[in-house]
Amino acid sequence: MLIRFKKSMEKIAMGLLSFMPLEKDVKVLQETMKDYMEDDQQQLFLWKENEDMVGAIGILVDDTKKLVTVQHISVNPSHRDAGIGQAMVNAICTRFGDTHAIEPNELTEAFLSKCK
Ligand SMILES: CC(C)(COP(=O)(O)OP(=O)(O)OC[C@H]1O[C@@H](n2cnc3c(N)ncnc32)[C@H](O)[C@@H]1OP(=O)(O)O)[C@@H](O)C(=O)NCCC(=O)NCCS
Repeated sequence: MLIRFKKSMEKIAMGLLSFMPLEKDVKVLQETMKDYMEDDQQQLFLWKENEDMVGAIGILVDDTKKLVTVQHISVNPSHRDAGIGQAMVNAICTRFGDTHAIEPNELTEAFLSKCK
């Protein structure tokens, strides 16, 4: 189930985002979190499976261009290859796909090009 990030989820969200290669640098990760908390156009969602938060997907919503860019996507290594990454992309498409085009950035392109 896709859940919109709240401040109370900051630690788990940082843990999940840190699996993105560039986010291993804690300063970069802190800036990324700040952007998701302060910039209304940037939205972070977590994926809840049973009672655990096991994935994160972060997007940039441009309502003028009618474009959603997937900026970050990561899944806890213990839960990979179980379809969670694809499920998060599907959930974003369900939420925004009627009104926005959904595109990857250079960091998410490899996985998104695999998604159906
Ligand atoms: C990418 C990621 C989110 C996929 O999550 P997941 O829940 O394991 O994905 P799914 O189970 O829906 O899909 C698994 C498929 O994606 C493929 N895949 C995993 N990482 C990939 C990548 N970086 N590029 C392309 N395909 C990838 C797997 O090989 C698998 O392929 P198969 O179905 O042909 O065996 C996860 O591997 C991850 O967190 N990686 C580290 C963070 C990262 O690098 N994110 C950016 C990816 S471009």
